Amino acid sequence: MTERELKQNNILPQEEVEAQKAYVLQLRLENERYLEAHGKRRRVFVLTFGCQQNEADSEKLLGMAESMGYESCEEPGLADLILVNTCAIREHAELKALSIVGQYKHLKAKNPSLLIGVCGCMVTQAHRVDELKRRYPYVDFTFGTSSLHRLPQLIAEKSAKGKRLFCPEESAYLVAEGLPITRKSTYRAWVSIMYGCNNFCSYCIVPYVRGRERSREMESVVAEVRDLVAAGYRDITLLGQNVNSYGKDSGYPYDFADLLSALDQLEGDFLLRFMTSHPKDADRKLIDVMASSRHIAHQFHLPMQSGSDRILRAMNRRYDTARYLDIVSYLREKMPDVTLTSDIIVGFPGESEEDFEGTLSMLERVGFDMLYSFIYSPRKGTPAAEMEQIPTDIKGARFERLLAVQNKIATEKNQPLVGRTLRVLCDGVSKTNEALYSGRSEGNKIVFFEGSPEDTGDFVTVRIDRADAFALYGQKC
Ligand code: 5AD
Ligand code: SF4
Repeated sequence: MTERELKQNNILPQEEVEAQKAYVLQLRLENERYLEAHGKRRRVFVLTFGCQQNEADSEKLLGMAESMGYESCEEPGLADLILVNTCAIREHAELKALSIVGQYKHLKAKNPSLLIGVCGCMVTQAHRVDELKRRYPYVDFTFGTSSLHRLPQLIAEKSAKGKRLFCPEESAYLVAEGLPITRKSTYRAWVSIMYGCNNFCSYCIVPYVRGRERSREMESVVAEVRDLVAAGYRDITLLGQNVNSYGKDSGYPYDFADLLSALDQLEGDFLLRFMTSHPKDADRKLIDVMASSRHIAHQFHLPMQSGSDRILRAMNRRYDTARYLDIVSYLREKMPDVTLTSDIIVGFPGESEEDFEGTLSMLERVGFDMLYSFIYSPRKGTPAAEMEQIPTDIKGARFERLLAVQNKIATEKNQPLVGRTLRVLCDGVSKTNEALYSGRSEGNKIVFFEGSPEDTGDFVTVRIDRADAFALYGQKC
């Protein structure tokens, strides 16, 4: 196949984009008429569960809704359109979303013209769509991750015909370029560089609900990042389920390290981050590019999942602890100041006490700055859900032990930062401690300090005078 054909295979055809634009125009006219008749705009409320990829998708949902003439609001009770963007990674996330959707029943009773749409990973699963069909009759439409761009069509058809709509998954998961984006922040931005996952880790639902890997073209990503930098964005995170395989799926003649090199050429005062990396694909070329770059933060999120080779095999992770340690030592050789974080799953089927101790001992050996740890949650349709499960109380007890070990390690890791000055991107008054401002260091550590309103969205320099497992504290200088 030629490069052009490969691209065409991957990218949503232009006719499809144009068809949606026609619905946008139609709805905008309708919403303008509503504004004239009622003296106020129709409002949209978007609720997001799950990962940064979902946050990024929600910024597109809001962008599309605003282009149709809706105005964003922060309360479901004020909305004419509610969109719930769901997650399926663990059962807890699904139950939470269903419970919130359940609470919208009374909003619909009060306002029958309210439209409720449920989208994202959870509703890419047939059994969850069936459940919404049967038990949540006030949900007007659902659309999965492959149909995000169809929001205008769904609203238009639901408004015209009144019938509930359950959008089937597209025959192919494609990259939709050019959707409008309304970003939450004016200085931090997410940029999706690829979608989907090919890895089929045996516990994970993502490949089933987000389809196969497909990458955006380098020129589209570079153009988006260039515009963000020009608009004053200071901290830009490139997103993908496995950014290390960027480009490979689409047969592009460039890889992730090449993309990073191209972005690093851009002029401006900004930091670039990326997530998530997979240890089987994280290569030295990528680490070399990071180490010699001007803009790439010295921060690496590298999910290890388990410290037992036997469990890593059962998880279908395709690396072992030796390979993991090899990447870590190269990272630290090239960037001694690198912040290293990881994901760990506790209680994967068949995990013995010895396997679990293997994980604890890897935590000690590697010394992660921070961990995102999860209790294994069986996901319908994945191989691990069929394996023999670990009792809930054992999973819970191991989880507590893991947290205690990691707290000690994180406290030790943060101590050497006391006395140092760090550049911190300020997020404004802290939500957890209103007497202080908070922000993130280059290593993405939370830093508390006495700030002022004009610091928000800017880099400030902070001398660290105290550290605990979760945060650094200091004075602006
Ligand atoms: N149960 C618990 N944690 C999971 N993750 C993915 N699937 C599951 C599951 N079934 C975790 C992994 C992944 C992170 C995003 O979520 O650690 O890296
Ligand atoms: Fe899930 Fe594994 Fe893909 Fe990550 S790499 S999204 S854990 S299947």
